[in-house]
Amino acid sequence: MTRLKEKDFGTPIVKSDKTVTGYIDQIEITVPENTSIMRAAAMVGIDIPSLCASDNIKSFGSCRLCIVDFEGRTGFGYPSSCTTPLTDGMKVVTQNNELSVFRKDLLEMYISDHPLDCNTCAGDGDCDLQDQAIDHNLFQNNQLAPSKYSLENGCNHLGSNVDESNPYFDFDPDKCIVCSRCVRACNEVQGTFALSIESRGFESKVKPGISDNFFDSECVSCGACVQACPTGSLLEKTVSEKGMPDETVLTTCAYCGVGCSFKAEIKNNDVVRMVPYKDGGANKGHSCIKGRFAWGYANHQDRITKPMIRENIDDPWKEVSWNEAVQYAADKFKKIQNQYGTNSIGGITSARTTNEEAYIVQKLIRTAFGNNNVDTCARVCHSPTGYGLKQTFGTSAGTQHFDSVQHTDVIMVIGANPTVGHPVFASQMKKRIREGAKLIVVDPRKTDIVKSPHIKADYHLPILPGSNVPLINAFSHVVVNEGLIDLDYVKSRCEESSFNDWIEFIKDESNSPEAAEKPTGVSAELIKKAARLYAQGNRSAIYYGLGVTEHSQGSTMVMGMANLAMSTGNVGFIGAGVNPLRGQNNVQGSCDMGSFPHELSGYRPIEDENARSIFEEKWNVKIQDKPGMRSVNMFDAAVGGEFKGIYVQGEDFVQSEPNTQHIEEAFSSMECVVIQDLFLTETAKFAHVFFPATSFLEKDGTFTNAERRINRVRPVMKPITGKHEWEITQELAKAMGYQMNFKSSKEIMDEIAELTPTFNGVSFDRLDKLGSIQWPCNDEAPEGTPIMHVDEFVRGKGQFMITDFVPTTEKSNRKFPLLLTTGRNLVQYNVGTQTRRTHNNKWSDEDVLEIHPSDADMRGIKEGSLVLLRSRKGETTLNAYITEKIPPGVVYTTFHNPETGANVVTTENSDWATNCPEYKVTAVEVEPASYRSKWQENKVNEVNQLKHIIA
Ligand code: SF4
Ligand code: SF4
Ligand code: SF4
Ligand code: FES
Repeated sequence: MTRLKEKDFGTPIVKSDKTVTGYIDQIEITVPENTSIMRAAAMVGIDIPSLCASDNIKSFGSCRLCIVDFEGRTGFGYPSSCTTPLTDGMKVVTQNNELSVFRKDLLEMYISDHPLDCNTCAGDGDCDLQDQAIDHNLFQNNQLAPSKYSLENGCNHLGSNVDESNPYFDFDPDKCIVCSRCVRACNEVQGTFALSIESRGFESKVKPGISDNFFDSECVSCGACVQACPTGSLLEKTVSEKGMPDETVLTTCAYCGVGCSFKAEIKNNDVVRMVPYKDGGANKGHSCIKGRFAWGYANHQDRITKPMIRENIDDPWKEVSWNEAVQYAADKFKKIQNQYGTNSIGGITSARTTNEEAYIVQKLIRTAFGNNNVDTCARVCHSPTGYGLKQTFGTSAGTQHFDSVQHTDVIMVIGANPTVGHPVFASQMKKRIREGAKLIVVDPRKTDIVKSPHIKADYHLPILPGSNVPLINAFSHVVVNEGLIDLDYVKSRCEESSFNDWIEFIKDESNSPEAAEKPTGVSAELIKKAARLYAQGNRSAIYYGLGVTEHSQGSTMVMGMANLAMSTGNVGFIGAGVNPLRGQNNVQGSCDMGSFPHELSGYRPIEDENARSIFEEKWNVKIQDKPGMRSVNMFDAAVGGEFKGIYVQGEDFVQSEPNTQHIEEAFSSMECVVIQDLFLTETAKFAHVFFPATSFLEKDGTFTNAERRINRVRPVMKPITGKHEWEITQELAKAMGYQMNFKSSKEIMDEIAELTPTFNGVSFDRLDKLGSIQWPCNDEAPEGTPIMHVDEFVRGKGQFMITDFVPTTEKSNRKFPLLLTTGRNLVQYNVGTQTRRTHNNKWSDEDVLEIHPSDADMRGIKEGSLVLLRSRKGETTLNAYITEKIPPGVVYTTFHNPETGANVVTTENSDWATNCPEYKVTAVEVEPASYRSKWQENKVNEVNQLKHIIA
């Protein structure tokens, strides 16, 4: 195996209906008009020397190495091929003696101001300058030959200080050739605009923001500049430490639902760096800090690698063999079922594991456990998406591929903060906005997307938490009242009766913008303007997140958005659609795999006898014909003494569920808690059996991202626990008396494909061939389906749903006058189990409470001071961050750190249809505090020990 290097065509692809035909070194080529000579040459296999060009950024024409000649050229000097388009009949020459002399001369100038130490440079072997020097005979004895332009006493830039401030990469100005690729990558690919070239001529140099170093600048450590750098000037620290990698394994990021493809680059069986893969369907060679750099947790010393058991949760853990641990768990589960009945145990699949690992857990529960008590963590995030989109469109998934946003005219972001939650998609979205797409943001907070360099939302609607439904109804009211309905679309694509009922409902004054003013806190005028902008866009698209779903009316809001999109004809083509931004890497996949208690894989109802019989025949068991318990029901039943055992795959419920006290009570009431995880999580404190899990670097399988894209996850190393997770689940099934005989995860995917109509054409072989596949993939769509509902909705006709506003029971009052809403930040992920074990802590190692200056002032709260956050459910302390990004009356925090325990204060309110918790609305009061509670002090000590280890 060797290190994979993707082809670089030098300049971006050009889209044009017109084509031109020219000749490059006598080879005829036809390309879209305005294609550069450099790109056209690369297309016929001729790589013109270059340093400052790359095909993911616009051409710049600064290094001049790419000069070419062509017949009939007039004027002085050779043109640069990266900035000169091929024209009809043009006859280009890319190589001749004169061009070579010029190029060599140019290279000598670069080398005159560059260290001659390739043999000791960590970038050796991955440097365009070195490659060009070799090609032009300027490389001798493993190093650059001294240049004829080197002046003994002349000026150069050598001897500058290396900027080591970023924990993941260094910037060595000595090696910089001021090509500006880093600056352009930061601007055009990432959209952060953190870098600039300061001064001019000889004094030119790369400068991070207004600071002197990368760490203190606006840089978000996406790594795009490091990737773009053609020399060793910007380089990953791990390459300096471990050496240049020499092998590549293609795999998929294990963090968010964007599902970025990565090249895991390896040396001596050790991962050296993760580099985003240019041919990745979702990310096209871009990444964020988490996937690019925060993978070190996989080898963290806190990882548990041996199975462990204990009789009581107060006993110390005892390391045992896999056989003993599996048998111990099986015996306990069987004993519980004998004593309390078949339905007294259940299990949870994880959105962090592969499809194959999730599938086999739900199969274990439906076969060996003999019940449908299976649920997944999507319950607490996007279950309302599943319900709402299924009712209206007919299937539980986003309608578009990510590329679709490049064709959108009006983007509406509701309850999502993509720059921190889905950073790579945010970069793609921001690119489209910089090109002119309009932007509406609906969010209580002034999130980054509302205003950032070269981006400004046309309308920001800072609604009060809990008021999504009246807002979306008011949007539709404007559409109906102002004649903005796309009647042709509705007539041909939607159910007439449901549309007529909906029109009657939505026309009512109670759904008007004026009526929405009070609950939303947004003026009717602003609502009208934003609604008109959305409705009048040629291609309008909705992107939404947990700010939509994690409400008592999450499902209603999803249906409200679907109603709006259908009424304006915005579903079923590129640039439009209704798109959930999924939180975890495989939340879509875990839902697809039959992880809900009422559905088999592919969202087929458990009550459907035909669907059930297919599985019964294949699995050779009788499946219960009624839905099992949801996770919330399992916890309630545990507290009530009826539910006694649980198998939890990769979820930290105690930290992630609302109303922590209730969850702790539920877990401590059970007789057998089996946790399968990388680390001893908060939930593992209540476990009797611990099955050590595998990191994504050890997994073999697939993840499915937010655009239904099934991506391969390939093992970079063997499981350090000695077993794949699917093997453990299979052994547990066998120990409980049900035979499963998979020999590989490939075979599990084959069974998924056999039993799941939307996965019929999926296999590891086809994924290797196609790169990735977006389901549905079957005979009608053998290569997958990037956009859904193209000619008709999955359910046939689109169904309008009545979306009455029922205010949450969680209300502010004199005792609890503020509304708390929660979310995440860029560098930490979910409950922080992985990211808190990386250098990402250097940016953020605590949850803070965002509060508006007027609310802080009123309470005597100072910036950075400790405050008590109290709700009807509980209290915690954290430090205050005073900011105008949050409106008066609302406070905000993240939930990444166990010592904050943000969910101690959240309530058990949940979505009426799916039980998704209402994390986004909690009435609270905030006051100055002088000390932390005892439980928090203990947690802080635990975390400090961890920080010490990382430092
Ligand atoms: S790491 Fe990303 S954000 Fe930071 S300077 Fe480089 S390109 Fe810009
Ligand atoms: S740091 Fe690298 S990419 Fe940036 S200007 Fe210097 S050589 Fe070019
Ligand atoms: S955007 Fe999401 S999938 Fe992509 S690298 Fe970042 S965390 Fe990973
Ligand atoms: S590659 Fe064309 S000028 Fe640098």
